[in-house]
Amino acid sequence: MPYGRRYPPRMSGPKTHGPGRRDLSRYGPRRYGPQGPTLGGLAVQALSSVERGYDLLAPDFDHTPFRTPDGFLRATRDGLAPLGPFEDGLDLCCGTGAGLDVTAALCRRSVTGVDVSAGMLERARRAAPRAALVRADARALPFAPASFDLAVTFGALGHFLPRDLPALFGQAHRVLRPGGRLAFPLPGPPRPGSRAALGLLAFDTAMRVRNAVWRPPFVMYYRVLTFGVLRSVLVRTGFTVETYAMAEFGRREDGSPRCRLVVATRPTRAAQASGAAGTSPGPPAL
Ligand SMILES: C[S@@+](CC[C@H](N)C(=O)[O-])C[C@H]1O[C@@H](n2cnc3c(N)ncnc32)[C@H](O)[C@@H]1O
Repeated sequence: MPYGRRYPPRMSGPKTHGPGRRDLSRYGPRRYGPQGPTLGGLAVQALSSVERGYDLLAPDFDHTPFRTPDGFLRATRDGLAPLGPFEDGLDLCCGTGAGLDVTAALCRRSVTGVDVSAGMLERARRAAPRAALVRADARALPFAPASFDLAVTFGALGHFLPRDLPALFGQAHRVLRPGGRLAFPLPGPPRPGSRAALGLLAFDTAMRVRNAVWRPPFVMYYRVLTFGVLRSVLVRTGFTVETYAMAEFGRREDGSPRCRLVVATRPTRAAQASGAAGTSPGPPAL
């Protein structure tokens, strides 16, 4: 069973410094609808560290587009179901708990969410009261080796630089049992020159400028971790990698899927010896 610091680790509430929730709610007009964060609040968040920024955003997070939409969650659940059933599931960077229900639907024994932000975990506790919630950095997981057979992560990889990936995937590999899976949906990059591509370029450029002139850094880049980069680190970590087209999101004009489910498997000894990875039959790989 997993061990480590369960949330809440103490009763004094989320660790926050500087302006709190009430201050941010007065910072100008709201974005993303009447319950979304204020523009000023988003600016303060963006000038904070990742942990502090999410502590601040937590009360409004579910009303932003940064929460993984239900369609992605359902499609991930449906894609992973044929690879299960699983026993113990882990949602890395679980935020307010968007992926915890999916993990619970796939896992028969336990569900654990990990996040670095106490504010986000506080919200996750309300959304998924039966999940074990642990405040930790996903690059240093406080769990015993081989504690889980499924690890998922949604919408969080942009917070990691390529140099962070060996620690992130190494930890996932360590806490997974042989035959265990690390899975995440990965939208394909937008068509070069399209509005979406220019939007992501503008976002990443603004983030680079911000991080060049401001401390603490807030790492969030959309265009850095391509499938090729992710795949090569996963393979170097010892995973075997398969991708499945997520049919719900359709295909592009060139026939490639708009979104793939990446499934990295920690091979069993027998599979390693025979050169195969998995333990159970799944949908046809791409
Ligand atoms: C965009 S949110 C996604 C939340 C949730 N998975 C979802 O799909 O709605 C990213 C989350 O990653 C968490 N996070 C970022 N870096 C982290 C790290 N190094 N370790 C653990 N959590 C981290 C943030 O605190 C935040 O809750």
